[in-house]
Amino acid sequence: MAEQTSPERATPERIIIDTDPGVDDSMAILLALASPEVQVEGLTIVFGNSDNVRMLARNACVVLELAQRPEIPVAVGAANPLVRPYHGRGASVHGANGLGDIPVPEPSKQPVEQPAAQFIVEQCRAHPGQITLVTIGPLTNIALALRLEPELPRLARRLVMMGGAVTVPGNVNPVAEANVHNDPEAARLVFHAGWPITMAGLDVTTRVRMDDPYLESLRDLGNRAGRFIYDITRFYIRAYRERGHPNMAVHDSSALVSIIRPELFQSKPVTVDVETVGELTRGQTIGDWRGQYGRPPQTELLLDVDAKAFRALYRERIATLP
Ligand code: RIB
Ligand code: CA
Repeated sequence: MAEQTSPERATPERIIIDTDPGVDDSMAILLALASPEVQVEGLTIVFGNSDNVRMLARNACVVLELAQRPEIPVAVGAANPLVRPYHGRGASVHGANGLGDIPVPEPSKQPVEQPAAQFIVEQCRAHPGQITLVTIGPLTNIALALRLEPELPRLARRLVMMGGAVTVPGNVNPVAEANVHNDPEAARLVFHAGWPITMAGLDVTTRVRMDDPYLESLRDLGNRAGRFIYDITRFYIRAYRERGHPNMAVHDSSALVSIIRPELFQSKPVTVDVETVGELTRGQTIGDWRGQYGRPPQTELLLDVDAKAFRALYRERIATLP
């Protein structure tokens, strides 16, 4: 797999997480905060699981305060897709408040004034080649950052994303995954930008499931983080069961684990493009395995994962949080 981050790597990979928290987003952010292999430079907020980005930013601040990391900046970004109006249905899976409708304390932490796209550009300009953009929501903020700074693909280290579905059906419709479907035009700009992309699509994220006994084991760790994860997943796992799944997928954490433990994954290089027009296929991520588009592969597509080791790592890291 590309860009192996070997366990003995001395320095953590510096990351900005672009997120729509979100139950599985919050789980992924907590994993990042508990993992010495990454250094979280900031959280940037994008619509997706809700279009109330102030609420999503509040959720991000809640998670940072829960982990006792209030120093990490939160920058608020796009509340709408680039072209078409927001049509997401995140509340049916993440709850109206984005955190499984549990009571949420008002955090003392507030977002910074700087908009997300500017925050991303300024951080990458200040630390050329050092910052990895980790996207676990629609790609609108990244597209806006590319418009601000066309050199971004050369200023960022790489892009690691949760989104898309190349070899498996979509979750919004037969071909499209939610993060890409929420803004296909943004996704197309990102896939054409010229940077190396690691893609944790549904191809791999649906292979990591968490059931109630596992979530109870997080609750029984006895720390606030484990209890919080158990509490916010009550609504989320119920939503999965109502859709015929016995347990839940934790999509966003796969993007982070692919940085923390790349050796847990199987992947293949492929050229990926995004459908933005098709009545039935808008938001589809298409894998060009035979070079028919005439462009070299820009994407390391994650295809399989050691799910047992993933869950063991996840619990081990959450146990280290307050
Ligand atoms: O399709 C899964 C993605 O959509 C995840 O990022 C989840 O948080 C939702 O945003
Ligand atoms: Ca998300």
